Amino acid sequence: MARYAQIVGWGMCVPNQILTNDDLANMVDTSDDWIRTRTGIVERRIAAPKETTATMAIRAAQTALRVANANPAKLDLIIVATATPDYLFPATACLVQDALGATRAGAFDLSAGCTGFVYALAVGSQMIISGAYDQVLVIGAETLSRIINWTDRNTCVLFGDGAGAMLLQASDVPGGVLSAVLGADGSGGDLLMLPAGGSRHPASVETVAQGLHYIHMNGREIFRFATRVTAKAARQALAEANVNLEDIALFISHQANGRIIEAAAKSLKLPPEKVFVNLEHYGNTSSASVPIALCEAIEQGRVKRDDHLVMVGFGAGLTWAAVVIRWGVPLPVPRPPRWRVAWRLARYRWAAIRSYLRRLGWKILSAVIRLFVRDNGSD
Ligand code: ACO
Repeated sequence: MARYAQIVGWGMCVPNQILTNDDLANMVDTSDDWIRTRTGIVERRIAAPKETTATMAIRAAQTALRVANANPAKLDLIIVATATPDYLFPATACLVQDALGATRAGAFDLSAGCTGFVYALAVGSQMIISGAYDQVLVIGAETLSRIINWTDRNTCVLFGDGAGAMLLQASDVPGGVLSAVLGADGSGGDLLMLPAGGSRHPASVETVAQGLHYIHMNGREIFRFATRVTAKAARQALAEANVNLEDIALFISHQANGRIIEAAAKSLKLPPEKVFVNLEHYGNTSSASVPIALCEAIEQGRVKRDDHLVMVGFGAGLTWAAVVIRWGVPLPVPRPPRWRVAWRLARYRWAAIRSYLRRLGWKILSAVIRLFVRDNGSD
């Protein structure tokens, strides 16, 4: 029997703190008018000191699991697409796995810049369609505010923080992720990069002094690249899914710049009501932008059962990707009863206790081994 990967749960998390264009104009030589007209961005969210990519990813994931009424202990795989993981290792996906109590899930991070979420959706859906897994949690999460040079007006006005999550579930109902197109061109890698902190330029006093731990971007070239690939990738994914452009209900592009989205929509001849834009509120949240946009589109009633959606990402790498989805879940989803919400919270509490006990176990074990080695060594 044919298998399909349906999106059955979704959730987003953005920090409370809002940074407006006027706030930025007090920090660098820019203006609300310049940022609005060149990008479409009005404000963005900035993580509080205790918020990280993992904490936002966990909150988005918990909402997605609640919407789907899914048990985290039954998840098979967690993929976190991010360019700003909590650590280089362990993977942020493992932090999410631990916090959710997803005891039988594999977990890994995926690095494809702002395209990460669409790449992850492609990988997760193929894991399901192939029959390997039944439930895959796909997350895009970023804390870009931590890698922004707040004195560089070329970049600091563009980015924001946030996370979005989608739960993919195996189904025999035709639909879900119908096609995926992935692309890369590493020759453009220098156009958008974080030069230091990896094995080529490990973090050092010099790299920090030279600001190499911040985003470096050639905005003009990225703009050209993005306007070139967005519509093209969408067309390729539609052709693979055998879906006509006229049958598209909603086009959700990576929310980097309103002019890039407009150019793609024009090329695809899509009317404004079929194009979702929310970058005015969040700026470019990299791999979180597409899932956050999808969550808000659902909330605004712009997605209905059997609708065809196209989602496109582009970004560092250079990378690009597009997926076509036939929406399979009736909307709106009924609110869960209170007891179920309470039960779910208790489960996350238990996951935290379990994690604490296991960490304690590791410590005790290593202390016992140290004692054993010392005693035997002194014989
Ligand atoms: N305020 C005022 N002036 C500014 C600002 C600012 N914030 N930033 C740049 N300028 C100036 C520049 O210095 C330049 O001045 P100059 O002509 O004297 O040198 C002038 O404005 C025009 O600069 P351009 O680069 O031509 O401006 P453009 O219209 O291309 O807009 C922008 C710049 C918004 C960065 C645009 O190129 C863009 O959006 N590019 C894509 C960026 C992007 O999407 N990046 C993320 C990719 S996804 C990922 O993986 C993270």
